[in-house]
Amino acid sequence: MSIFARMNKDRSIAIRPMRPEDIDRVREVGQIAWSDLVVQDIGRRFRYPKRSERLIESYMAVEPKGCLVAEVGGTIVGSAFCHVWGGIGWIGPLEVLPDHQNGGVGKALLSACERHLSERGCDVIGLETMSHMPKNLHFYLSSGYVPTSVVLIMEKRMLGDEVHTQFVEDVDISGLPSVLVDITRLSRELSPSLDYADEARMAVERHMGRLFVTKRDGKVAGFAILHTYQREEEARYSSVKALIADPGRSDQREIFNALLDRCEQASASMGKDHVLIRLSALSPDLYQHMLSRSYLLKGANVRMVKKGTYEENGKYHITSWAG
Ligand SMILES: CC(C)(COP(=O)(O)OP(=O)(O)OC[C@H]1O[C@@H](n2cnc3c(N)ncnc32)[C@H](O)[C@@H]1OP(=O)(O)O)[C@@H](O)C(=O)NCCC(=O)NCCS
Repeated sequence: MSIFARMNKDRSIAIRPMRPEDIDRVREVGQIAWSDLVVQDIGRRFRYPKRSERLIESYMAVEPKGCLVAEVGGTIVGSAFCHVWGGIGWIGPLEVLPDHQNGGVGKALLSACERHLSERGCDVIGLETMSHMPKNLHFYLSSGYVPTSVVLIMEKRMLGDEVHTQFVEDVDISGLPSVLVDITRLSRELSPSLDYADEARMAVERHMGRLFVTKRDGKVAGFAILHTYQREEEARYSSVKALIADPGRSDQREIFNALLDRCEQASASMGKDHVLIRLSALSPDLYQHMLSRSYLLKGANVRMVKKGTYEENGKYHITSWAG
């Protein structure tokens, strides 16, 4: 029996797919839950920005049955989002209103997400969470998740010294079909069940950000997905959602640099103050490399897996399961 109050013990929890008319409430629930978490974390009041409406709509368009709400007494008190990247399924964000926490809503949402990802055929199910929050660690450890790596959150202020890059192409809607097969190929080379094609399509088709590719010997040798819409539409930062340099190539570091230069340059030209990245801490060389590129460490998440095993080949890539 838990020492924490079971707020919802006498009321049943209903989980159902999110509908377009739920979006305002879902944004509000997220804002309240994350603002409360910040107070618990740093002891100061902070109004967390609402998640971008455009982002939620995109998640719902790509994975309609994997965007879920939890209702208690007919009112939405929590929400969760599933993502499917080929055989890799991950969950996030997941949030519950503070007044309804510790009553099983979070675990009901988490189980529903896992069911959905299994039905979608995912052979790996995982997520990332803040490594310094005891409740979050308990929540996932007690649900069967096992930590697999630390994910570093790093940030670079735009200093006006962004390098103009050649040999990196912007992919628009008309160019998308010709590169999706290469994005699938490079994803699989990084990790056998991984496929970023749907994520790349979402970024371009739903105007979430930019897709860049770079070629060597006429063949796509790397790609980057840059999200320029984060939480509130007018956010001052952009986020590198994925950057993969062909792990089989000896020049993967140069490919990585060219793509990251282009992400930084595009962010600066859109007036963004800084660029955010999340990358595995398993490669000390990559961490040193990011420091040499003026990125600063801002925090860390722990990546956890419940089903299957997940490993990445190569050294120069940015990947994250953070929603
Ligand atoms: C994480 C979150 C979704 C959990 O939702 P919830 O409805 O409280 O979850 P549940 O009630 O199903 O489970 C909570 C568990 O944490 C335990 N718990 C509560 N406070 C705790 C603490 N300070 N330390 C350790 N465990 C704690 C509860 O006892 C319960 O465990 P039990 O089932 O073994 O008894 C919710 O706290 C939240 O929205 N947090 C803010 C956003 C966030 O961090 N999301 C996750 C990001 S990956």
